[in-house]
Amino acid sequence: MATAPWTRRHILSLADFQPEEYDTVLQTAASFQEVLSRRTKKVPALQGQVVANLFFEPSTRTRSSFELAAKRLSADTLNFAPGTSSLTKGETILDTAKTYLAMGTDIMVVRHREAGVPHAIAEEMDRLQSRVGVFNAGDGQHEHPSQALLDLFTLCTLLDPEKPRLSLLNGKKIAIVGDILHSRVARSNIWSLTASGAEVHLAGPPTLLPKLFADFVQTKSAALNRQLVLHWSLEPALQDADFVMTLRLQKERMTNHLLPSLREYHQRFGLTHERIKLCRPEVKVLHPGPVNRGVEISSELMDDPQISLISQQVTSGIAVRMALLYLMGSGKQKEES
Ligand code: NCD
Repeated sequence: MATAPWTRRHILSLADFQPEEYDTVLQTAASFQEVLSRRTKKVPALQGQVVANLFFEPSTRTRSSFELAAKRLSADTLNFAPGTSSLTKGETILDTAKTYLAMGTDIMVVRHREAGVPHAIAEEMDRLQSRVGVFNAGDGQHEHPSQALLDLFTLCTLLDPEKPRLSLLNGKKIAIVGDILHSRVARSNIWSLTASGAEVHLAGPPTLLPKLFADFVQTKSAALNRQLVLHWSLEPALQDADFVMTLRLQKERMTNHLLPSLREYHQRFGLTHERIKLCRPEVKVLHPGPVNRGVEISSELMDDPQISLISQQVTSGIAVRMALLYLMGSGKQKEES
């Protein structure tokens, strides 16, 4: 398996990630997974470095997971809560970032409800010739790279726990179902999963998988020679699928009435034990969380440990974020020496 020396200062999108980079992340995460199985779960890799979590939007698992990952690497962590910050006094986001820079922050993990904010902070940090690395922890409807990478790690370690690698998904059928339109998780996963050679099927109602968006992603993936298939009904996406990823209905991002009712949505696109009989017998189900129980997935299926990988995804998130922070931090150390 080809892995590459890490060259990225920022991780903002998976659009231009190369297969060797995915393999480097998977392999590094596997070694941190091993660290996390020990009695002493901490390593000194980022000792003396500061990781600031700048979450301008609510989050449970991503924020906590980045914080724990940074702590396990012995970094000092700063947590920012917009409601109690100087943003309420009119400070701009870039000035907030510069304040954290002045405190000696090495890595900024940024989440914002507007697409492009992490990019804007990264540009500003580069313009100031700082060596800060910026991590996009979810920007609007754009991308969520760490979620897609932890999903990839969850799938690849299931197939080969010793040596997770991108090529393991080659030829697999993976369905991504639900509110594609509003999902940054889907957008990042489309890049990583199609890069593996998997056949990725997107399924959702036309209001949540609009024709224009569908045409755009299909043209783009065809140009890259990637396999992406779109459906406006669930069944063809589930047929013989190896993995199914269902997405939360992102009601906070819906400006119009895009659905007749949650009940009808569940009837047409909700995953249940009955529905997934169309998939391959050993199918596994993923969801990035948080889950609307009984809407995009039935409670019974969500809690079925034989099929649901949801808890595994959360667990994988720590090792994967340790790997990502470590790779960003080690690149920085190289620049300094
Ligand atoms: C996702 C997010 O915030 O984009 N959740 C997550 O990070 N685990 C998906 C969602 O909110 O539905």
